Amino acid sequence: MHMSQCARLFWLSLLFYSTEAFNDLIDLSLQPWGFWSSNKTINGTGNVPGDIYSDLFASGHIDNPLFGENHLNLRWVAEEDWTYRTTVYLGKETQQPGYFLDLASVDTIATVYWNGEKVLHTRNQFVPYHVNVTDLIIESGENELMIKFKSPVRYSKRRAEEYASVFGHKLPPDCNPDIYHGECHQNFIRKAQYSYAWDWGPSFPTVGIAGDIYLNVYRGQLFHDFTFKTRFNNGKWHLQMEFDVFHYGSRTVDFEVRIPELGVRETDYYRVSSSKSMQGRSKLRLKFSIPIEKEPKRWWPNGMGEQKLYDIHVAMGYQKKQKKIGFKTVELVQDYIDPKKPEYGRNFYFKINDVPIFLKGTNWIPVSMFRNTTENKARTEFLLDSVAEVGMNVIRLWGGGYYESNEFYDYTAQKGILVWQDLMFACALYPTTEEFIKLTDAEVYTQIDRIADHTSLLVVAGNNENEAAIRGHWWKTSNYTENQQVKDYVLLYKRFAKIAKELMPNVPFVMSSPSNGIETEQEGGVAKNPYDNRYGDIHYYNEFVNLWRDETYLTPRCASEYGVQSYPLRETMLNWINESDWEYTSKTMFHRQHHPGGIATNLLMIFQHLPIPSECKSIKREDVHQCKYVTSNSYMSRLAYFSQIHQAIALKVQTLHYRRFRNITTEDGLGNTMCAMYWQLNDVWAAPTWSTIDFDQNWKLAHYEARRFFASSAIYAYADEADFNLKVFLLNDHMTPLQNVTVNIQQLSWGNGLDPILTEEFHVDSVPAGTSQVLNTEMKFSKMTELSEYLYVSTLYNSTGDKIHEDVLVPDFLFEVDFNTFGDVRIGDVKRIDELTYEVNVTTDKVSPFTWISCKKPFIGWFTDNGFHMIQTLRTVRLVTKVEVDLQKSDFEVCNLKNCYV
Ligand SMILES: *[C@@H]1O[C@H](CO)[C@@H](O)[C@H](O)[C@H]1NC(C)=O
Ligand SMILES: *[C@@H]1O[C@H](CO)[C@@H](O)[C@H](O)[C@H]1NC(C)=O
Ligand SMILES: *[C@@H]1O[C@H](CO)[C@@H](O)[C@H](O)[C@H]1NC(C)=O
Ligand SMILES: *[C@@H]1O[C@H](CO)[C@@H](O)[C@H](O)[C@H]1NC(C)=O
Ligand SMILES: *[C@@H]1O[C@H](CO)[C@@H](O)[C@H](O)[C@H]1NC(C)=O
Ligand SMILES: *[C@@H]1O[C@H](CO)[C@@H](O)[C@H](O)[C@H]1NC(C)=O
Ligand SMILES: *[C@@H]1O[C@H](CO)[C@@H](O)[C@H](O)[C@H]1NC(C)=O
Ligand SMILES: *[C@@H]1O[C@H](CO)[C@@H](O)[C@H](O)[C@H]1NC(C)=O
Repeated sequence: MHMSQCARLFWLSLLFYSTEAFNDLIDLSLQPWGFWSSNKTINGTGNVPGDIYSDLFASGHIDNPLFGENHLNLRWVAEEDWTYRTTVYLGKETQQPGYFLDLASVDTIATVYWNGEKVLHTRNQFVPYHVNVTDLIIESGENELMIKFKSPVRYSKRRAEEYASVFGHKLPPDCNPDIYHGECHQNFIRKAQYSYAWDWGPSFPTVGIAGDIYLNVYRGQLFHDFTFKTRFNNGKWHLQMEFDVFHYGSRTVDFEVRIPELGVRETDYYRVSSSKSMQGRSKLRLKFSIPIEKEPKRWWPNGMGEQKLYDIHVAMGYQKKQKKIGFKTVELVQDYIDPKKPEYGRNFYFKINDVPIFLKGTNWIPVSMFRNTTENKARTEFLLDSVAEVGMNVIRLWGGGYYESNEFYDYTAQKGILVWQDLMFACALYPTTEEFIKLTDAEVYTQIDRIADHTSLLVVAGNNENEAAIRGHWWKTSNYTENQQVKDYVLLYKRFAKIAKELMPNVPFVMSSPSNGIETEQEGGVAKNPYDNRYGDIHYYNEFVNLWRDETYLTPRCASEYGVQSYPLRETMLNWINESDWEYTSKTMFHRQHHPGGIATNLLMIFQHLPIPSECKSIKREDVHQCKYVTSNSYMSRLAYFSQIHQAIALKVQTLHYRRFRNITTEDGLGNTMCAMYWQLNDVWAAPTWSTIDFDQNWKLAHYEARRFFASSAIYAYADEADFNLKVFLLNDHMTPLQNVTVNIQQLSWGNGLDPILTEEFHVDSVPAGTSQVLNTEMKFSKMTELSEYLYVSTLYNSTGDKIHEDVLVPDFLFEVDFNTFGDVRIGDVKRIDELTYEVNVTTDKVSPFTWISCKKPFIGWFTDNGFHMIQTLRTVRLVTKVEVDLQKSDFEVCNLKNCYV
């Protein structure tokens, strides 16, 4: 019982005794919650919002689910039915108010009881509920709220069986690949799809009260929410507001909208009515324009300008709400590359405020398997800070997780990070039964309506890879023809497209990611080849090619997924597995590798570039997996570091390959590439995955590399296999030309220390805004293998002589280089700048490739640079932390390719 709440309610009823309407929110997450298993032998204290695994862990019933092999040991949890219960004491009300239960997210299949009476069945985690419990309330007394959850795994299995028996075929994927060690049939439950396991994550199909939960007490009318749409037309901003009101009886409601900073104040009133005994819900609209003389400042993505946001206040009587509003326009350009040659295909790029934007970013997966509000909020902010810090301007909110919170979208707007929003459908076909469509229509309607007015929203995509899966024949299906698959697919996503057009006429919608954009629509909703480089976006993965060579890559309009795995470093992994399991093919590590074939391909890819250990010298490079030492505990830490080097270079080359096709088309109409969004930013556990930030929030080498490969003014060099020439590109993503720049190219020989054997210098008058430009150099080599002898350092200086970017091309057959020629790298002076910042000097005598600075004490933060190649004797970097850590010089360590984790 919470006395403060009784007191508050009592006070409210006095205050509004003489007024028509009032409302109050009782936060039920603050009540004490208990939970128990179906046979009641397991019970404990629950957290709300929360989930069963966190509660079982917090109450001592299970070990940390993310440790060791617990993901396999805890499968019984998702087979259980669980009950959550709380009580709430309500004071006496003299106003005869209505009582409504507001549930933001119930995960997933549950029945809700108020004082023992069934009030709600829930079937979709992504739909909020507003339930009238007025008749069941006990005033001046204790009320019981109980939520009984059904096992999601058993539910989806039953639904899949029902489906197969009715339709005579299974609905793919039917089951996840065995190597995921997950559950089956996630496509039959409207629950975050990754919770049944993914190739980067374990299976924890949680249950629990996943969002806010309130008892909403009001009389007369309730101002539930408001949304707004902004449209720029004829030099003016037009706003369309929509107020969502619950009410009963007939009454007048009045609204006031204010944007104080713009001097905007608009009011209106409405008559609403519903039958006396029934609740009504009205969506009331108000349109107005912002006078030209008060034109707001535009909101710009990171790197293109300021992220100006205004406060918008709406009041319905004394009920007030506030949001942030930003002003930007977004357009998806899909005109023909050459109208005279339609076979060349179409552009696919976005304009923000009429300016073309090159999308530089990454893919976002949920921050956790679990629902711990405190921890997840901190993780989210750290990750979004890390995205903005390295110059990205977009994240793709991938379709196998969940729709993020309003706070999340607000934070992305504040940071200038655009959001490419998938609807939460991924790598599967979904039922198209009337029941399912009703569930998903409600979901898509609610979520788009909620998300549409967030300034950071760039585009909404109907799903992740479902179109590609049909055409790529990813699944063995019987009794289910491709034509029928297409029909079912189109039925669902055309409905979503319609909802999207209605709710967000000013934000683009694409049927899938990847898709061919307009071309997909023109081909009826499923393109013949959704991976066509001439249209829309593509996802690209290939582990059987040389990922360190520019020529390897395709030249699409937009690359919205690409990447390669790496292992977290030892410091992270040993927090999550026993030290004795820290070897490449231990059972524990094996069970964390969910990528089919990943065990083999990672070794092949790494040793295509990096030396096999001397312990394996008698073994051929391609048979390296047969060498016991490579998969032993003694080598694992170095192998993890190697994997991060491989990932960093693979992402670097691929990203810069896409960037160098900005505003450039090939003879056959390819190019004009405008997106580079790698897979994936973050992790849900410690395991080999595609992330660039590991689960303990340490930046991997690739995330440090990202700051370099995403720089807005950049220089990029690669060795052209066609003419054995060093090709150098200048990239300018700014909205202004880069003028009077100097380019300096040095050729260094490994045996020759830090002095270049050759230097070239160029003056470039202008790199126009939004372009890439090639610079042909005289640096020639007679064959590609000769490259292993050299290092090419390209530096870009601006007109005032300041260095603005540096690119180092390391040989892709690094194993051919004599590692004894690398420098001895050391920590020099360490200076504390302020509570959160240290300055660290690093010195070397010779070239120091893949220099890695680490800190013995854990910290949340990043070095301003790391994983770099030193070609000068001194480098100064800073360590920036979020929380104060007390550090001495002796806490820092540095190594390079010669000696890291040896
Ligand atoms: C009760 O359920 C738990 C969890 O499923 C199970 O481990 C336990 O064996 C059950 N106990 C009894 C007495 O059935
Ligand atoms: C939890 O379980 C124990 C053991 O069965 C039982 O004594 C206790 O009353 C239960 N507590 C709740 C809150 O159900
Ligand atoms: C396919 O259809 C046949 C004949 O109707 C049936 O026997 C078989 O079980 C079906 N297969 C699946 C996978 O449902
Ligand atoms: C809530 O339900 C009660 C009982 O069914 C009904 O009398 C009351 O009018 C309902 N309130 C609203 C606002 O619909
Ligand atoms: C939630 O996260 C916080 C901060 O990491 C932690 O202290 C707390 O124990 C967690 N709660 C649960 C239920 O896991
Ligand atoms: C560029 O450099 C030339 C000479 O180096 C100078 O005359 C000219 O003013 C410069 N232009 C700009 C825009 O800095
Ligand atoms: C291509 O470059 C031109 C010239 O700078 C620029 O006006 C145009 O906006 C660029 N196009 C794109 C798609 O960036
Ligand atoms: C050159 O770069 C430096 C360092 O970033 C900057 O301070 C300076 O303003 C730049 N000069 C010009 C002309 O852009």
